[in-house]
Amino acid sequence: MNTHNVTLVFEDGRAVRFDANEDDNLYFACLKNKVRLLTDCLEGACATCKGLCTSGTYYLDEYTDEALTAEEFAKREVLTCQMHVTSDCVIEFPYESKLALKSKPDVRMATVVAADMVSSTVSQLVVKPNSDQEPIPFLPGQYVHLAVPGTDEHRSYSFANAASETGAYTFYIKILENGEMSNYLTSNVKSGDEMTVEGPFGRFYMRPINRPILMVAGGTGLAPMLSMLDTMAGQDNKGFPVHLLYGANHAEELFGLDQIAGYGEQGLDLSLEVSVVDADNSWEGESGHVTDLLRPDLLNGGDCDVYLCGPPPMIDAANAWLVENDMRSAQIYSEKFVAS
Ligand SMILES: Cc1cc2nc3c(=O)[nH]c(=O)nc-3n(C[C@H](O)[C@H](O)[C@H](O)COP(=O)(O)OP(=O)(O)OC[C@H]3O[C@@H](n4cnc5c(N)ncnc54)[C@H](O)[C@@H]3O)c2cc1C
Ligand code: FES
Repeated sequence: MNTHNVTLVFEDGRAVRFDANEDDNLYFACLKNKVRLLTDCLEGACATCKGLCTSGTYYLDEYTDEALTAEEFAKREVLTCQMHVTSDCVIEFPYESKLALKSKPDVRMATVVAADMVSSTVSQLVVKPNSDQEPIPFLPGQYVHLAVPGTDEHRSYSFANAASETGAYTFYIKILENGEMSNYLTSNVKSGDEMTVEGPFGRFYMRPINRPILMVAGGTGLAPMLSMLDTMAGQDNKGFPVHLLYGANHAEELFGLDQIAGYGEQGLDLSLEVSVVDADNSWEGESGHVTDLLRPDLLNGGDCDVYLCGPPPMIDAANAWLVENDMRSAQIYSEKFVAS
């Protein structure tokens, strides 16, 4: 009996993961795992149970053309009441998780292992889930809520480590003036502190790699890119070239450059361009916004996947550039680091 890992991602970004038996249709596999997908006929006729399989292989039992057209099938839309997974799969649903899940997102207690400034404004926080608890599985690019110790507040942070590495989680956190998490990290943090980690969340995650990738990261928007790159570096098939555009306001805010340089030795075909907005005389690289580095030749004629992460104005500028340059065939995924 073959089982495969299934990740369901809902419209609000909440994700759940469980093992599904190939012989069970996905609706039934979900029920066994306390997930009640929206359904009606359970016969492949009404389309209520439709989702989009963004990665993995599967087959469908019987269904009508009205419920799933050939075009929808080609786009990898699936009727989950007729679906059997034949490999690990990720499936997205166009409705909120509360409609399918009674349970709350996974919450773990974790212990601070280290918190160090790695640039003038960025703290690297490493936390370890307590040993009596299962680590939270996640997709590279997703995020969690971290509680701010000593307060009732929590903030959202993207995993920066490989998805397979669940023994400890790494986050890169920009220190803001008078921020709750920022103040904790600059004034009060000590190793051994406990904090809750809740999640995972997010629809910004690495899709199967079947064409070149362009990543554009502003500031700590580099964090989820590092999670994706770490995950790619650990895979046998290194796939396609990745071009990373990375920017910060000041040169001393940049972090992660040594780590990025190391991916070449691990066999990744990764190229990097860096730009800083306020460059002083000691900066020898490009100056300006990271989006100023965008050029049509980076997009493989539109046949590429684009990942954008950083402050909202950066994402808006990158999206506007992609539309102006008619790169609509590129698949664009983005995450705005808004205040959480
Ligand atoms: C999905 C998601 C993922 C995120 N991942 C990361 C990450 O990996 N690394 C990271 O550094 N941040 C990330 N953020 C932003 C993060 O959640 C916090 O908003 C940020 O760290 C501020 O927290 P704080 O407690 O220090 O400041 P707060 O107490 O929340 O705010 C202090 C002051 O700063 C302003 N402010 C808050 N957030 C921001 C912001 N993002 N940009 C500019 N001003 C702000 C507030 O309006 C307030 O005036 C993410 C946000 C989202 C929504
Ligand atoms: S529930 Fe009707 S098609 Fe699946």
